[in-house]
Amino acid sequence: MSLPRVAAALLCFVVAAAASARAADPIVIRFSHVVGENTPKGIGAEMFKQRVEERLAGKVEVVVYPRSQKFNDDGALLALLFGDIEMAAPSLAKFRRYAPVLQVFDLPFLFKDVDQVHRFQQSEIGQQLLQTMLPVGILGLAYWDNGMRVVSANKPVRVPKDADGLVFRIEPSAVFLEQWARVGAVGIPMPFKRVTDAIREGLVKAQENAWSNIYSRKIHTHHRYFTEINHTFLGYMVVTNQDFWESLPEDIRSALEAILAEVTVEVNRLAGEQADGDRRKVMETGTVEIISPSAEEIALWRDALMPVWKQFEPDIGKEVIEAAVAAAATK
Ligand code: LMR
Repeated sequence: MSLPRVAAALLCFVVAAAASARAADPIVIRFSHVVGENTPKGIGAEMFKQRVEERLAGKVEVVVYPRSQKFNDDGALLALLFGDIEMAAPSLAKFRRYAPVLQVFDLPFLFKDVDQVHRFQQSEIGQQLLQTMLPVGILGLAYWDNGMRVVSANKPVRVPKDADGLVFRIEPSAVFLEQWARVGAVGIPMPFKRVTDAIREGLVKAQENAWSNIYSRKIHTHHRYFTEINHTFLGYMVVTNQDFWESLPEDIRSALEAILAEVTVEVNRLAGEQADGDRRKVMETGTVEIISPSAEEIALWRDALMPVWKQFEPDIGKEVIEAAVAAAATK
């Protein structure tokens, strides 16, 4: 064989070998999130990875990027759209730009507890909301819990007037911004990874978050006062890029959906336990005070904050708010 023909044959062999290696390459799912590994979402992402890699070994690989290692939540949603990651689970308060209707989850005092949130999420409208970002190419796969938000501050905040003049770190939610403005406080939206530094640097004097985030980000080492107003819930939507999800072979996609459904049950069970456990650990430090406002004091918060419902009704939709109220009330 002449030298050029040997070279051509060799090239064909190399190309064929590379192509067959590619064909055998596992599908990679990059899952980015912003919280610690030892929080409901962190545990859920790892559990999803482990079960996928056990049951779809060699076919699908999951790479988890926790603690904003790769992106903050705004960046993760853009990365999802650009195909730089395949999964994320931002807080429900972070989707306003893509689906204003999801602000229903931010409304103060709409849900009294996590069971009420679940009833709405499982209702017909709650399930439809998973599809509400399809026009931009984002598909909601599941709802994951964290817990009810607790207010922490460097001074006792028991009634609305105590919040007057306080600067809060908030998630980028227009509802939260307005809600705090109603009691004379200033909300500064900032990514989760900045929270502890912003408190330490004195940039903000207050914040609101779930117990697992407070404990894992050591917020209790900077704030002494924690108020359980139970005004809003912190939960997540697990999302993917619709084109990516639909491009998966059917058997793989349904296996992934089955695993995600199992993991969702586990995460939501665990979130309740962890909220109690992390609250206890924070209390046991002996350096904090937990403030439980009386029914009369909670009524003052409701009067102060609930007017934001009317303000956001055109954005969210009256029927969605009514459906949430009805689902929450159903036993
Ligand atoms: C926050 O920004 O405070 C939370 O949304 C973080 C999270 O993912 O729980």
